[in-house]
Amino acid sequence: MLLRDGSAPSDQTRGSDAAPADAGKAGARGAVRAVLAGVGAYLPARVVTNAALAETVDTTDAWIVERTGIRQRHLAGPEETASFMATRAAAAALAHAGAGAAEVDAIIVATSTPDEAFPATAVRVQAALGVTRGFAFDIAAACSGFVYALATADAFIRTGAARGVLVIGSEVYSRILNWQDRTTCVLFGDGAGAVFLRAGDAHGAGILSTHLHADGRHGDILHVDGAVGRRDRPGHLMMKGQEVFRQAVTKLAAAVDEALAANGLTHADVDWLVPHQANRRIIDAMGKRLGLPAERVVLTVDRHANTSAASIPLALAEAVGDGRIKRGDLVLMEALGGGLTWGSALVRY
Ligand code: UT7
Repeated sequence: MLLRDGSAPSDQTRGSDAAPADAGKAGARGAVRAVLAGVGAYLPARVVTNAALAETVDTTDAWIVERTGIRQRHLAGPEETASFMATRAAAAALAHAGAGAAEVDAIIVATSTPDEAFPATAVRVQAALGVTRGFAFDIAAACSGFVYALATADAFIRTGAARGVLVIGSEVYSRILNWQDRTTCVLFGDGAGAVFLRAGDAHGAGILSTHLHADGRHGDILHVDGAVGRRDRPGHLMMKGQEVFRQAVTKLAAAVDEALAANGLTHADVDWLVPHQANRRIIDAMGKRLGLPAERVVLTVDRHANTSAASIPLALAEAVGDGRIKRGDLVLMEALGGGLTWGSALVRY
């Protein structure tokens, strides 16, 4: 498939298996499951190491690695907006699924850094992909955005409202960071990841369940203090890191247990944990809690830093692309972010 600008998408999903044979042959209305037919990713070419950051802000590589596990991040160039990166990740996901524009009924972009207040980034992506039908909208749930978008797409597919849905996380947090604030600017990176979901057999592979939560009472511990509508304040990301850390450890543990219990499964059934990539210490704690060996936990935070709504689909695309995650594997995803919002998704790949 070609993008509207004539370029070919980069398929970052080499070596992965084809979609299950039952994908796309849904049964009666309601008796379907959303199958992860394809995955794709896009990362800006520019890589900034911790050492490079330490030249402009009072930090060290040792502090960042010890407290977060981050070693480098990709940062967007001027032309790399949320829609630009989302389009490329989406095109790669469609190529991986062997799907064309005609199969796309809906596009959902999870982003907190849209190109414009409106139209939605998803609509820009729709036009760039040459999709001329269906519907498209954005979801703002900060770092939980991909899980929220996946849950929304799953609902559309289960009810029969859509059969092919692109779910994309795309973020340019570099544009909302205060580059003088060492407590936040070292933590984030830019990028996009996407999945193409197809209606499939209710008893086959696909999304088993999703679990969403929000608690607005904690809205101020992780937020952007401005918006497009605030001329006085374009906005910077503000975070009370330790409070968010405490919330993440307890709420994510509960969300993971909730997903397994809802499906009558236990920790031992999980093949892969694909967590939101905020901090290696949180990820390690979750892996340990599930009794998973480190090699069953997909880790990208070391190279991507925290890409917010893009982090889970980026990690998924990497582990599917290099052949770690195989068809039939049980994949557990979880995320927590500004809102607070948090949630989990259990998927049979
Ligand atoms: O994606 C959404 C969800 N987000 C998260 O889950 C993030 C959760 N929080 C975290 O990951 C961690 O709390 C951080 C990585 C943000 C911070 O780690 P921490 O171990 O909680 O450090 P801290 O905030 O307690 O700071 C410890 C010290 C402070 O100095 P003093 O007061 O002890 O003298 C900070 O000023 O580290 C200092 N510090 C830094 N030093 C060097 C803070 N940032 C830096 C820095 N370089 N970049």
